[in-house]
Amino acid sequence: MQSTNLIQSKGTKFKDESWDFRKDFTKYSNHGFHTYPAMMIPQVARRLIRTYGKNAKVLLDPFMGSGTALLEATLHTNFEKAYGIDINPLALLISKVKTTPIDSKILWKEYHQLIEQCTDDKQAVNFSQKQIERPSFPNIDFWFKPQVVTDLAIIRKNISEIKNKDIKNFFLVAFSETVRDASNTRNREYKLYRMSPEMMKKHNPDTISTFRDKLKENITSMHNYYQEYDKNCKVSLLAEDTRKTTSIQDGEVDLIITSPPYGDSRTTVAYGQFSRLALQWLGYDQKTVLGIDKVSLGGIPTNDLIHDLGSPTLKDTLQKIADVDPMRARDVLSFYVDFDKCVQELHRVTKEGAFLCFVVGNRTVKGVQIPTDEIILELFQAKNHYKHHNTFIRNIPHKRMPKINSPTNISGNHGVTMNEEWIVIIEKE
Ligand SMILES: C[S@@+](CC[C@H](N)C(=O)[O-])C[C@H]1O[C@@H](n2cnc3c(N)ncnc32)[C@H](O)[C@@H]1O
Repeated sequence: MQSTNLIQSKGTKFKDESWDFRKDFTKYSNHGFHTYPAMMIPQVARRLIRTYGKNAKVLLDPFMGSGTALLEATLHTNFEKAYGIDINPLALLISKVKTTPIDSKILWKEYHQLIEQCTDDKQAVNFSQKQIERPSFPNIDFWFKPQVVTDLAIIRKNISEIKNKDIKNFFLVAFSETVRDASNTRNREYKLYRMSPEMMKKHNPDTISTFRDKLKENITSMHNYYQEYDKNCKVSLLAEDTRKTTSIQDGEVDLIITSPPYGDSRTTVAYGQFSRLALQWLGYDQKTVLGIDKVSLGGIPTNDLIHDLGSPTLKDTLQKIADVDPMRARDVLSFYVDFDKCVQELHRVTKEGAFLCFVVGNRTVKGVQIPTDEIILELFQAKNHYKHHNTFIRNIPHKRMPKINSPTNISGNHGVTMNEEWIVIIEKE
């Protein structure tokens, strides 16, 4: 166990509303392609790049999600390389599409053909002149109305006939958003809850129009991105696990910008649940789809509360939670045990002098606020030399996260409050 006196210097920590970007539009460029839970706002990534990445050539987001930091790395900067890592195939697809420039003329041509074909197919299927193959996955009829299943199957079949992989992926991202919009899930929630029977009665989406509108938006954004992206920045997306040794070389990275998960996926944001329906429609096997939340940080609770992590703050916090509920304390610990494995890997891949910027949430469990900003700092400083520069506390004005989350799958059992984020800046010495 590391002792407290190994903890090194602390920089300043203060509330700074200039990081709120309260009135700013967050969907510029390709940032609005697809919803994702707990997205970073692009203005935060941009400011971090400009402040801490002046001479940086290689950026890494080890929990890239929908690729906000990576997209920013390809816009008006000097990066030669931008790495992103995620265990969720949906995150990889979205990030890939957001950072792959395609000439909008090609996309519009494909769009017109595809929408026309979908409309013709729909008519033919409705008049029984054509049959369409339905996907088969558990509970499909629970989550989608019959007409929606038919329409999505038509769209999917027509996308599958596109030969060019980048173009096909571009259409798949709009398809994935359409799956979510047309499903029977309750609007704007990341966990899978079905609509009430009253809401179901009114829910008759025009799926092909939803898909068409999403495509129009995304092609328009891509048109602008195609003019402005930085051709020197190569994006490399890794379907890997940041807890393990990744394919990035030792000391290759000189800037990390990331927002890790807020905690274990059972009690905070369930990325696997959020992605499940889209991934099933995209043809991923059940094992991959259902396994995402288990391989997410803290996916498997620890057996006990014994650990050798070098954070005194974590130790105190766990004790306070364990006094009320030892099981929940194990959930919390499992996340930090996994996060500490990532600390080892991030230490390996960064250069001396690299800045590491973490945007984190300090959630509350059983009435105890967990100071993740302090814990992360202590985990880095416990074993290696890292200088703490600043921690900026920002309000979350945009509803990126539901302000109150359910700590279990039981709707209404509230326990996690997130109104602020902590931006922790450390430097590897
Ligand atoms: C808060 S989200 C990132 C959101 C991102 N900043 C954005 O703007 O969309 C955290 C991400 O960490 C990923 N993640 C969880 N465990 C991981 C692991 N072991 N290795 C790599 N990524 C992981 C999740 O799949 C999720 O996409």
